[in-house]
Amino acid sequence: MFTNKRILVGVTGGIAAYKTCELVRKLVKLEAHVKVVMTEAAKQFITPLSFETLSANPVSWDQFENSTIHIDLVRNADCIVICPATANTIGKIANGIADNLLTTLISAATIPVILCPAMNKEMYRHPIFQSNVEKLKQHEYHFIDPAEGELACGEYGWGRLAELEDILFGIRRVLFGSDALKDKKVIVTAGPTEEPIDPVRVISNHSSGKMGYALAEAAALHGARVTLVSGPTALSTINEINLKTVRTAQQMKDTVFSELPDSNMLIMAAAVSDFAPKRISEHKIKKEKATFQLELQTTPDILAETGKMNSDIFRIGFALETNNEISNALQKLENKKLDFIVLNNPMEPGANFGSNANRVTIIESKEKIEKLPLLGKDKVAERIIQKAIERMKSNE
Ligand code: C5P
Repeated sequence: MFTNKRILVGVTGGIAAYKTCELVRKLVKLEAHVKVVMTEAAKQFITPLSFETLSANPVSWDQFENSTIHIDLVRNADCIVICPATANTIGKIANGIADNLLTTLISAATIPVILCPAMNKEMYRHPIFQSNVEKLKQHEYHFIDPAEGELACGEYGWGRLAELEDILFGIRRVLFGSDALKDKKVIVTAGPTEEPIDPVRVISNHSSGKMGYALAEAAALHGARVTLVSGPTALSTINEINLKTVRTAQQMKDTVFSELPDSNMLIMAAAVSDFAPKRISEHKIKKEKATFQLELQTTPDILAETGKMNSDIFRIGFALETNNEISNALQKLENKKLDFIVLNNPMEPGANFGSNANRVTIIESKEKIEKLPLLGKDKVAERIIQKAIERMKSNE
């Protein structure tokens, strides 16, 4: 995700500094090149050795280590992330104070600076702190706002460091995002559905939901307001995505339809069950005979029905095929009147259920078929969203 990106992580003196260890570890795992700069106060909470080990790079804090260290560090980075950012450091930056290595290199920075504040709720609410934040926002500093919750001091309120997933997304948004989908509302469906047979059994499938969750984040990366309608999965998502969880195909349909009127795009990545039991047994079905017959009926075709309700919406479907892939997908493209369809085959090597990678073909028409190589699901999602942005622009 961050391959070849050089990220300078600034750590200031707050108890949330222990969470920055996990951030650095994760950034390195996602192939970023990470360098850490600490303030003296940060060293009271975490030792430089921890960050040196996690980042596999020397850690700096002394502005007099050599006379150009602040320039060298900032000219060899793509962005700066200050995590946690204390009221003190934010106040200093907002007022042009450069009295340690971190604030000095910030004063020389021409790259994006992302601040992740974390502090007590009264410190966070303080009007002087808030006016410093406003001032920095006007100067295009980026903020990943803290969350509400239990604080290290025992009080409850706003000031808790944002979740790791939200910080990582904020960094992605600054490095790779755009406003191409600003003012657009996008619905994404993800995961399997579960159709109950009796109180303890269901009909479902192996969908992990990873492709749909990656698509929701890719749309948010380009500024869309995203509602993610998800069947049961083991996944979580970022705070700014409006997550609605459902179980059955009927619940998914109801939720999608309630979101539809003010939406601009629908991406149906969910593996919706095609059949559901005609009757749901009130009690657990007993193992009485050697064979058992279950009568099934088809579920509503959500994608096909949405076309009738909001014809202006840009609609993308998915086709999971294990034979005659292209011709079956073309038929679905036509029958469901889609803008394009994404074909995948979980039997292909590396693209099986639950995998972090996928090999898909984007089909716009019989003449326009683009086969993508095996890519991470975040990369596949980015290609699909880029295609949708291009097509929506040309439709305008
Ligand atoms: O017709 P088929 O189920 O193969 O089409 C797959 C596409 O239709 C997927 O985008 C899937 O999310 C959607 N679908 C649906 N409602 C169903 C079944 C599938 O919207 N009941």
